[in-house]
Amino acid sequence: MPRKIGLDLGTDYIRIVDESGKIYRAPSVIVMDKYAECIAAVGDSAKKMLGRTPDHMEAIRPIREGVVADGRACSDLLRTLFEQQLNIGGMLSRTEVVVSAPGGISAMQATNIKQAVYGANVRKVTLVDASICAAVGSGLQYRNVRGCMVLDLGGGMSSAAVISMGDVAQFGMIPVGGDALDLAIVDRIRLEKGLTIGEQLAEYLKRTIGSASPLMTMGEKTVIGREEKTKKIGEARVASADILQPVSEYVKALAAMIRRILADTPPELCADIGDFGIMLTGGMSGLNGLAQAIRNLTRIRITMAHQPQDVVIKGLNALIQSGGDAKYARR
Ligand SMILES: Nc1ncnc2c1ncn2[C@@H]1O[C@H](COP(=O)(O)OP(=O)(O)OP(=O)(O)O)[C@@H](O)[C@H]1O
Ligand SMILES: [Mg+2]
Repeated sequence: MPRKIGLDLGTDYIRIVDESGKIYRAPSVIVMDKYAECIAAVGDSAKKMLGRTPDHMEAIRPIREGVVADGRACSDLLRTLFEQQLNIGGMLSRTEVVVSAPGGISAMQATNIKQAVYGANVRKVTLVDASICAAVGSGLQYRNVRGCMVLDLGGGMSSAAVISMGDVAQFGMIPVGGDALDLAIVDRIRLEKGLTIGEQLAEYLKRTIGSASPLMTMGEKTVIGREEKTKKIGEARVASADILQPVSEYVKALAAMIRRILADTPPELCADIGDFGIMLTGGMSGLNGLAQAIRNLTRIRITMAHQPQDVVIKGLNALIQSGGDAKYARR
């Protein structure tokens, strides 16, 4: 019997769900040893090496802005995860993979995703719309005649979809996500404190003291980096207010995206969204004060999904279990 698994190819995290509904997660990173021409590390151990690899090694993030940027590295990463984490190495030729893919991608990008997954030696690959998965996984009544909006705020991209009667009525995305915000935080601290810090440290600051509201301060952290003037190692204290500017820019970009989509949405569906509000999903939903900040800018009620970073893979699992993946397969 062929087996069917679900795959969410995220820019930051790959999430896989097996037939029993068990979810596996791994950072979307692979480290290649260029001399030995072999895979040195994948997932968690590879992520720890980001920015720290010696010359003969290369840390690759094969997925960028929600689409495949390096097909071969993506195939290698997936095959290794299937073999080592799921223990299905011997069964790959009988395995069908259903992949959640962003709605707005081109035919070429869809082909790239399929080829990258086929490169892991699986039997069959189909794509389904990630916004539908997000709607299912967050428990929205997506088949209802009344419309709803689901926002997916990931590491590489942010998207919003208006869903009505089980289909996507309107969709929009921006290539701005948590990773772009990390880079903007690095820039801000260089400007404000004269200190260059690493992206992983910036991500930590975003999660801990990052706040989308000037009224919600989350304390201070001491960070170590390289002083711009002296090029020596130095340290600085960073407070929520020091990184409020890039966080606010991120929130403004989200609000502009929502407004653009609503401008193209029929008034009846806009009224439904006004009634029911917007469902927040994706890892960036966890940013302190984000829901309130989006509400302030859009005047729309915001609901946060339970375990927002796993909503897409959970929805994909529900679709596979109910046979709905065939209905939503991208043709
Ligand atoms: N509690 C938190 N506070 C702020 N940011 C967070 C929090 N938890 C996760 N993030 C951020 O969420 C992002 C990852 O989200 P997610 O796992 O949904 O992305 P992804 O699915 O891999 O990417 P994409 O869907 O954009 O391709 C990262 O930028 C991470 O730093
Ligand atoms: Mg995602």
